[in-house]
Amino acid sequence: MSKFLHQRPLQNQPTNPYPLSPRSSSPFQRPISLFSRTGLLILLSLMLIMGVFLPWIGMPLFVFTNTKPSVTKWRHYSLEQAASFVARNGTLIVCAVSEPYLPFLNNWLISIVRQKHHDKVLVIAEDYATLYKVNERWPGHAVLVPPALDSQAAHKFGSQGFFNFTSRRPRHLLDILELGYNVMYNDVDMVWLGDPFTYLEEHHDVYFTDDMTAVKPLNHSHDLPAPGKKGRTYICSCMIFLRPTDGAKLVMKKWIEELKAQPWSKAKKANDQPAFNWALNRTNGQVDLYLLPQVAFPTGGLYFKNQSWVQATKGMHVIIHNNYITGFEKKIKRFHDFGLWLVDDYALESPLGRL
Ligand SMILES: *[C@@H]1O[C@H](CO)[C@@H](O)[C@H](O)[C@H]1NC(C)=O
Ligand SMILES: *[C@@H]1O[C@H](CO)[C@@H](O)[C@H](O)[C@H]1NC(C)=O
Ligand SMILES: *[C@@H]1O[C@H](CO)[C@@H](O)[C@H](O)[C@H]1NC(C)=O
Ligand SMILES: *[C@@H]1O[C@H](CO)[C@@H](O)[C@H](O)[C@H]1NC(C)=O
Ligand SMILES: *[C@@H]1O[C@H](CO)[C@@H](O)[C@H](O)[C@H]1NC(C)=O
Repeated sequence: MSKFLHQRPLQNQPTNPYPLSPRSSSPFQRPISLFSRTGLLILLSLMLIMGVFLPWIGMPLFVFTNTKPSVTKWRHYSLEQAASFVARNGTLIVCAVSEPYLPFLNNWLISIVRQKHHDKVLVIAEDYATLYKVNERWPGHAVLVPPALDSQAAHKFGSQGFFNFTSRRPRHLLDILELGYNVMYNDVDMVWLGDPFTYLEEHHDVYFTDDMTAVKPLNHSHDLPAPGKKGRTYICSCMIFLRPTDGAKLVMKKWIEELKAQPWSKAKKANDQPAFNWALNRTNGQVDLYLLPQVAFPTGGLYFKNQSWVQATKGMHVIIHNNYITGFEKKIKRFHDFGLWLVDDYALESPLGRL
């Protein structure tokens, strides 16, 4: 997971009190305003009495009216329903998350709220706990495409479970393209410092970022780079933007084929990134590919390791990826050290609140 879970921090901005999405909270505001002040006081007193003196009555009531129906409801929520509910202007931002990564999800979300793009975020939950937890707090923003993965198995970077987890990514993205949406995929170990959509205004099929650490000139080419040492490029599968074109769909289909052709093995401990690079290699020329600027979308291997570069390019960074480091705790510590671990202080800015 470490390679893939990279989140970025955001700058300080005015706090948005967003424990619930505006959509979910608005229906409750109108009925309350119907009560007179006295009526409201009586109601509040009653609730207090119920809560304080009759907790055994209050509790099951809460469980039955709240949790149960939503659980069964979200179990059958389809990708098509979710996409149409969440998309804004035909565009979705998606991530794929299992329960252990919820803190990273929240960190990433806070940074997206600050860029005002959170309303189009759809969380592809890899397990039911994640599906329910996200939708309970932020109704409609998580979907599970069955089967759910065993999250224990999916946890360890380089394991077969991890490979299975990431191999479903191109399938989900292709499904979303077939439904006709633009889609941005992000790993959740990323943090947004700026608005990436200003870099996505031209009409290329597939946008991606380089995972190489070598510093490039500001005016570097936006073509697919030349292959590296292993005969292939090192494009990151962590941040991808796709338009619902034949070209983008072709890249996803090739990616799926490459994953099938080179399945996980103990010796290779593959992840899905090489297959994505082969897919780009095979489709270059037929498909309009676009390499995003390094200065705005640097790999963690550059951002976290070259302070003089970070200084020299200050203010130009858009998405930071916490990769080139393995281990959950180490990732958190690094975000923390760089002021990019937002969940401790700014959880209330997230539509999920404090988890
Ligand atoms: C909606 O999408 C169109 C086409 O991609 C774009 O030109 C326009 O600026 C977008 N509008 C908003 C509000 O994002
Ligand atoms: C991964 O997927 C393969 C093929 O679908 C399956 O045989 C295997 O049991 C899965 N492994 C884990 C750990 O999920
Ligand atoms: C970038 O700028 C340098 C110096 O101005 C120039 O020599 C070089 O050709 C440019 N490269 C590209 C890819 O435009
Ligand atoms: C694809 O990969 C092969 C093998 O490394 C390389 O020779 C070729 O130049 C690559 N093609 C493109 C378009 O990158
Ligand atoms: C760090 O960045 C500077 C540019 O700011 C560059 O000249 C130098 O080569 C980089 N160092 C490494 C180790 O890549």
